[in-house]
Amino acid sequence: MLTPVLSDNWDQDRCWTLQAYEDRGGYRALRSALEQQPDALIDLVKASGLRGRGGAGFPTGMKWGFIPQGDGKPHYLVVNADESEPGTCKDIPLMLASPHTLVEGAIISSFAIRANYAFIYVRGEVLHVVRRLQRAVQEAYLAGYLGKDILGTGFDLELVVHAGAGAYICGEETSLLDSLEGRRGQPRLRPPFPAVAGLYASPTVVNNVETIASVPCIVDNGADWFASMGTEKSKGMTLYSLSGHVRRPGQYEAPLGITLRELLDLAGGVREGHQLKFWTPGGSSTPILTDEHLDVPLDYEGVGAAGSMLGTKALQIFDETTCVLRAVLRWTEFYKHESCGKCTPCREGTWWLVQVLQRLERGQGSEEDLELLLDQCDNILGRAFCALGDGAVSPITSSIQYFRQEYLAHLEQGGCPFDPAASTLFATAGAHA
Ligand SMILES: Cc1cc2nc3c(=O)[nH]c(=O)nc-3n(C[C@H](O)[C@H](O)[C@H](O)COP(=O)(O)O)c2cc1C
Ligand code: SF4
Repeated sequence: MLTPVLSDNWDQDRCWTLQAYEDRGGYRALRSALEQQPDALIDLVKASGLRGRGGAGFPTGMKWGFIPQGDGKPHYLVVNADESEPGTCKDIPLMLASPHTLVEGAIISSFAIRANYAFIYVRGEVLHVVRRLQRAVQEAYLAGYLGKDILGTGFDLELVVHAGAGAYICGEETSLLDSLEGRRGQPRLRPPFPAVAGLYASPTVVNNVETIASVPCIVDNGADWFASMGTEKSKGMTLYSLSGHVRRPGQYEAPLGITLRELLDLAGGVREGHQLKFWTPGGSSTPILTDEHLDVPLDYEGVGAAGSMLGTKALQIFDETTCVLRAVLRWTEFYKHESCGKCTPCREGTWWLVQVLQRLERGQGSEEDLELLLDQCDNILGRAFCALGDGAVSPITSSIQYFRQEYLAHLEQGGCPFDPAASTLFATAGAHA
């Protein structure tokens, strides 16, 4: 059931080094790609059905195809390595374990879109990852995979590792571009889209780390091989990150369409003596689901049909010891803190959401506060300038949909009916029974 491709070399000795990567066939795909026409590579990625792994699932080959050709302007590839959606922890392990998979993918992708400059915009707080990437890029330059006249083909590419200062909004692609240009990271009005006017007003492809890291294996094994995994519209394998109340948390690489029930089987199940209560399919910006949804196929269509989104495939597992209101309040505090302040619905709205949730958590609100919360959410959803605002309301509206009674229980009991210590990971099954 597991299909380790991106994670296949993670247990290899010193897997992050060029030597180890080449020992397993690394940079073979680059040699083969450089012998092809750039357009043939775009067609290959289109045929594979690869969709962006950064959250929205946009078809990657189609995005590359939007880059105007022969326009005389420089083209840029920007790898989004800002990974900051709560619960998401796949790009950082990937870059730590096998940075050359990303570097090789970035070189092939740049060649395909005819870019001579590429950037990896990485979250600055993960200094160990920044250093590992810098070393991998240095090794690639020394080996002749980067720089001028790569492998004697005449193709030039400069690859820059850029450390961001650590802001959730800088993962949003247009804020990322502003930040990369040296400005404060805030979203840009679209259109124009980055494919037309992105970095330095030139055609730019922004792709997630996992998306770009998936390119070498497609070049190596072919589009049909990739498309043979997954479901009809969601092709290939992907990294699912399991965290929270699960026995063996971590990365599980499996075909799109696997279910949470199957993933939990692989991960040893919910922690001993407990049951699943709710979970996020793709980070906290995606509406929560419950134990009713254990058999939902975890692909873009399946999760969408269940009323949520696949997002970043960050499966945060919560058992029955967790107060849903408390979890939702913590997430909302995060969105309030990370709101960039550009638009009123999100800047003011997230602040008000926290006020009302705090009141409810203390058991001091009233039943009308639930309607007030939903009304506030309604005034943010679809009215904010970027998707951060929409994401902020997802946990609130979905938790009220499934756990309205639990919100009311706080009012009836004059406070939280849960023991917060029982939901901590160090609490043992019997200790708080
Ligand atoms: C608030 C916010 C934060 C985001 N953070 C990330 C991120 O950390 N990494 C990422 O790849 N995409 C992030 N995205 C999505 C990007 O805007 C963009 O869709 C993505 O990088 C495109 O790459 P893909 O097509 O390969 O998925 C974020 C979007 C929003 C609205
Ligand atoms: S929704 Fe508005 S305030 Fe919130 S992060 Fe986006 S642009 Fe900034």
